[in-house]
Amino acid sequence: MSEQFEIVVRSGANWDSSTRASARDLILASKAVSNRVALEANLESATHLAAIHFEGQLIATATIKRPQDSYLKRVSNSSGIDVRGFEAEFGYVAVKEKWWKHHLATALADKLLDGFSTPVFATTGHPAMKKILARKGFAHKGENWIGGSEDEPITLSLLLCG
Ligand SMILES: CC(C)(COP(=O)(O)OP(=O)(O)OC[C@H]1O[C@@H](n2cnc3c(N)ncnc32)[C@H](O)[C@@H]1OP(=O)(O)O)[C@@H](O)C(=O)NCCC(=O)NCCS
Repeated sequence: MSEQFEIVVRSGANWDSSTRASARDLILASKAVSNRVALEANLESATHLAAIHFEGQLIATATIKRPQDSYLKRVSNSSGIDVRGFEAEFGYVAVKEKWWKHHLATALADKLLDGFSTPVFATTGHPAMKKILARKGFAHKGENWIGGSEDEPITLSLLLCG
């Protein structure tokens, strides 16, 4: 199914602001993000922002971003694993609900991570993401912790690759 879609990858800054806003809205709708203020800045500074459009609408997105020091410190404290040397995080993966289980997140991970040689980490609590990341060579490290949003706390795990 996913092979019928074109995945376009640009740096966050090289996308137009309306696509970035659509990515922000899709990510916020997924309720997987606790820090809404950081989201917008992180999308703009992302080294890779992947987008799948269908009939003019953004239906799936994912990023590789350079994590801020304060965030790396928080993840290190939460997981018990020192990730402060990492320069890349794979995250903000969100697919419009209507399109779940069509392997779009898998296709985004393939596109962004195949051939990506910098050590990269991810944090997730979603079983689909854990499956996708394990297939890309990520391994679960450290302790789980409670994250997500205040409305919808989730148990997060740290996964490392490289
Ligand atoms: C998590 C999310 C991105 C997955 O996207 P998706 O395009 O539906 O994922 P895929 O279709 O590529 O699924 C990958 C695998 O996980 C499985 N899977 C999908 N949803 C699942 C679920 N809720 N529970 C268990 N397995 C699931 C799929 O069946 C597939 O398995 P297979 O390859 O063996 O057939 C999507 O559900 C989503 O946007 N959720 C809300 C946002 C979110 O939580 N993002 C994660 C932030 S890190």
